[in-house]
Amino acid sequence: MTTLAGRTLVTGGCGFIGSHFIRGHLQAHPRREVVNLDLLTYAGNPDNLADMAGDPRYRFVHGDVSDAEAVGRAMAGCDTVVHFAAESHVDRSLLDARPFVRTNVEGTAVLLAAAREAGVQRFLHMSTDEVYGDIPAPRTSVEEDPLQPRSPYAAAKAGAELLCRAYVQSYGLPVLVVRCSNVYGANQFPEKLIPLFVTNALAGRPLPVYGDGLQQRDWTAVEDACAAIELVLERGEPGAAYNVTAENVRLNIEVVRRLLAVLGRPESLIAHVADRPGHDLRYAMSAARIRALGWQPAQVWEEAFPRTVRWYAENPDWCRRARDRAFDDYYTAQYGARG
Ligand code: NAD
Ligand code: DAU
Repeated sequence: MTTLAGRTLVTGGCGFIGSHFIRGHLQAHPRREVVNLDLLTYAGNPDNLADMAGDPRYRFVHGDVSDAEAVGRAMAGCDTVVHFAAESHVDRSLLDARPFVRTNVEGTAVLLAAAREAGVQRFLHMSTDEVYGDIPAPRTSVEEDPLQPRSPYAAAKAGAELLCRAYVQSYGLPVLVVRCSNVYGANQFPEKLIPLFVTNALAGRPLPVYGDGLQQRDWTAVEDACAAIELVLERGEPGAAYNVTAENVRLNIEVVRRLLAVLGRPESLIAHVADRPGHDLRYAMSAARIRALGWQPAQVWEEAFPRTVRWYAENPDWCRRARDRAFDDYYTAQYGARG
């Protein structure tokens, strides 16, 4: 169990989930400090934590999780590690897998070695439902299921998990793994489905739905995901993995239609384009284990989804600043040939 006082190293804290987690972690634990180690890649956005700047319990460290020296310095004095830093976008992994291997696999190896050296009490690794691969209905994945990743992103996340397992087995490092479903909420980089489609719709640009849009994703609100991570830190069994999901599986096309309805924009903006190569049709997990720890989602999709859509619509400056000029090149590379 994480002690009340102490210092938590969070990696990737300037990203989407990490920024929500840090704010909540400092609020929930008034005697804890947080060190946020983040490389500020295209997805790392200091705006997400601008309100933390004056907090004496919060320290930002600019650095790479693959850099053993930087990691060793950042981890000094920390008893807990929460590891979010990753290349997180499946579509980018299909353009070039190498940054995914470097950050997601090598970076995790560097962190695990440093945590062992430092004798940390809790190491929470943030993983994904994508490690299970495609799950045909009506099955739901349970934690003992085999890892069968199918995209370069998912393979790199599975590789990181296997390293975590090896550190539990070989050295008894108290690692906890959280496998989370698709997370939605404010502050997500606008390359992912929901924020990308809001910004496109508001600009009158087409919404590029991959294939027929009948793929299914399992959506969990970011506040619920962070509460589950806190609970696993507090009560999780070292060495165990925990699925985190609101068990809220939706067809992509249903999500897109609802998004347009919230914005009052026409469905004629929907453009069916070439599918994502190797696209997993469906993810769905059982939340029985995390529910047995005492977690249940507090957010309801029917309220939290429109709130999320409106957040992006009401924060165009955040979206503009999040995307630097390189985003246009990425968009052309990703979508230009899709038709
Ligand atoms: P994100 O892309 O929004 O943020 C990633 C953060 O990591 C950024 O701040 C970035 O600057 C930082 N980073 C990247 N490479 C780094 C490096 N080498 N060294 C230090 N920092 C680096 O990601 P997210 O959506 O917040 O996801 C966080 C974690 O949760 C990831 O591990 C991801 O695989 C996992 N996850 C995400 C979701 C989701 O739906 N977003 C679902 C399940 C699991
Ligand atoms: O399942 C958990 C995963 O969820 C996390 O591990 C990843 O880090 C996170 O990015 C997310 O991955 P997805 O690939 O599911 O998210 P994305 O928002 O990119 O896509 C959601 C679905 O929408 C997916 O089936 C692909 C589809 N899609 C996405 C984009 C960007 C489209 O149809 N068109 C698009 O332009």
